Amino acid sequence: MSGPLPGVLDEPGRADARARELREQIDRHNLLYYVLDAPEIDDAAYDRLFAELQAIEAKYPDLINTDSPTQRVGARAAQGFAEIRHRMPMLSLANAFDEDEVRAFDRRVREGLGLGEDDAPVQYNAELKYDGLAVTLSYENGRFVRGATRGDGEVGEDITANLRTIKAIPMRLLGEPPSSVDVRGEVLMYRADFEDLNRRQQEAGEKIFVNPRNAAAGSLRQLDPAITAARRLRFLAYGVGDDGDWHPTRQSALLDRLRAFGFPVGSPRRVVAGPQGLFAFYAEIQACRASLPFDIDGVVYKVDDRSAQARLGHVARAPRFALAHKFPAEEAITRLLDIEIQVGRTGALTPVARLEPVFVGGTTVSNATLHNEDEIRRKDIRVGDQVVVRRAGDVIPQVLRVLTDRRPADSPLPVFMMPDHCPVCGAATERDETEAVWRCVGGLSCPAQRKRAILHFVQRRALDIEGLGEKLVDQLVDRDLVSSPADLYSLDLATLVSLPRMAEKSAGNVLAAIEAARGKPLSRFLFGLGIAHVGEEVARILAAHFGSLATLMEADWDALMAEKSERQKENARRRQAGEPMLVVPLEGIGPEIAASVAHFFAEPRNRGIIAALERQGVLADAPASAPAPEPAAAGALAGRTFVLTGSLPDLTREQAAEMIRAAGGQVSSSVSRRTDYVVAGESAGSKLTKAQQLGITILDADGLRAMLAQNPDSAQSMHPTEQ
Ligand code: IVH
Repeated sequence: MSGPLPGVLDEPGRADARARELREQIDRHNLLYYVLDAPEIDDAAYDRLFAELQAIEAKYPDLINTDSPTQRVGARAAQGFAEIRHRMPMLSLANAFDEDEVRAFDRRVREGLGLGEDDAPVQYNAELKYDGLAVTLSYENGRFVRGATRGDGEVGEDITANLRTIKAIPMRLLGEPPSSVDVRGEVLMYRADFEDLNRRQQEAGEKIFVNPRNAAAGSLRQLDPAITAARRLRFLAYGVGDDGDWHPTRQSALLDRLRAFGFPVGSPRRVVAGPQGLFAFYAEIQACRASLPFDIDGVVYKVDDRSAQARLGHVARAPRFALAHKFPAEEAITRLLDIEIQVGRTGALTPVARLEPVFVGGTTVSNATLHNEDEIRRKDIRVGDQVVVRRAGDVIPQVLRVLTDRRPADSPLPVFMMPDHCPVCGAATERDETEAVWRCVGGLSCPAQRKRAILHFVQRRALDIEGLGEKLVDQLVDRDLVSSPADLYSLDLATLVSLPRMAEKSAGNVLAAIEAARGKPLSRFLFGLGIAHVGEEVARILAAHFGSLATLMEADWDALMAEKSERQKENARRRQAGEPMLVVPLEGIGPEIAASVAHFFAEPRNRGIIAALERQGVLADAPASAPAPEPAAAGALAGRTFVLTGSLPDLTREQAAEMIRAAGGQVSSSVSRRTDYVVAGESAGSKLTKAQQLGITILDADGLRAMLAQNPDSAQSMHPTEQ
């Protein structure tokens, strides 16, 4: 690698001039590469420029300024991310799945703008719908100052340090930018970079990502920006939040201008007229979708005239001037090689389809969930069958149906049966009739359940111990080094480095993370224990009610439930009589949860583990006063609102609701524009109709499970590619 020219390093004046020159050159090459797609130099030459700048700045630290390309990777965030309230809310888009819905959108736009039959077609800017994560980037006087995730649309997380590492994001804007502007766009990972990342992850024994979107999400929310920097994320701009003193008149011109400021803007994009123009664009993109370097899940249409946009305004959380026209979920045909059984944290056995690898929905799929035995019977799925696999956006692959006409007439294959012994520990299995699941009765003596219990304990929403991934937990349990969460706290460096592929540095990091995971709030601790039916929401209710672990452990549940039911009865009477109501304790906790909690704490082994964890100071001291409410959940479904309607094939509505809450989602009883998903079972009525009218995504029980399976921490979500 060539260093600075002789002499440059010895003369501060020359060093300063050269550093400026290098920064300009590096910024220019970033622009050529990321925005103009026309690189002039190769990676090695780029690295040489970079190394030369680093050498100068190392010798003259005074010359460093914050937007130097060398300063993209900053220090690790000590704790989580701070919250940022967006200057303008980050809206979402209404969806359309067919041409009728697009025509209806165009009609609403025309009506809203007071256009008659004889008026010209509306001009729309047609763009790609990137399948990544929305972010907002604030620039003051042309300098990048702050960036945040979308969050709930009003408040996002401050991920400035991580966004700085993305080379496609300019630190200084080119040309004459407005004095203040919020640029909105999508962070994503190119498919090639995603494949590359997974290859490296696999070699290092780290987590494999299911798709580029998940990889981008996981990379963006790293507390250590150095990790984000190593992940090769991209950014594509699609709009502005607050345009400050800059008021572009058209969306198309706005994108041109953003590009001139140095932002990558996706292509193809085009101004088209009326529904016919929109359909032509849609067809064109659908045809070239696979050849784009990144995943898209549809196209977006925006009224091009921004003053018309302003006149149209918003409904609920989506603008009336824009529409996402989604692509149908992709399907492919492949062969079912085998059905394997996975054992989850609660002992539930989940059949998983091993498939002949097939490219569908932007990734190669080789596993799919089969949910449960009944499902396999209902669909008559047999090893050796040709099956139709579907994968949509961020949803895990599913086996839709069997091509029975391709099954040989003399197929001798037997119908699938769940094993009567656990494939991991050999203990007996039994079917829980109410839940349609088979469980291994081995409990924590089953290594599979032990592993999952530990992973559940260390996950972000529980004790939040970073670095304890599946591979490491597998090794620790398989070697009998750890058999319960409490054992984690007795691990030492010598033990960890004795494991294959464990370097001293990573071992040190793991120990430091365990060390740091102390003094946690009661609700997280309770959730982490993995008590049946105790998701985050229930854990919060218990923590708020009892205040301390000791009080909870000694609770007289029979008396509590009796009192609760008395009060409910009394309230029913008072409601009739129009009298003021009593407060009902433990709202949301019914007899089933109560029995499960009581059972868990009565178990001597559990009490032993808890005592050991308490000795380690894992739990924060009980607050003297009433405990403060804790921050909302952040799971796979965080920020999403569900409505359940109709009867689901093998879940009660309460169970489904609990699963949604455990993954951070909210369950509401009525459908409104704020509803994100409606889960509809058999004989669903008016709620379903309303959801259809509002264009809300409708899921069946499979769809819900598939979304939950995105959440590696949920017991019902065991899926091989996820973990
Ligand atoms: S505009 C004013 N344009 O889709 C509406 N969004 O459901 C704000 N997205 O969270 C969004 N490509 O992350 C817009 N060309 C595009 C987009 C796009 C992807 C995402 C965006 C947003 C979600 C809306």
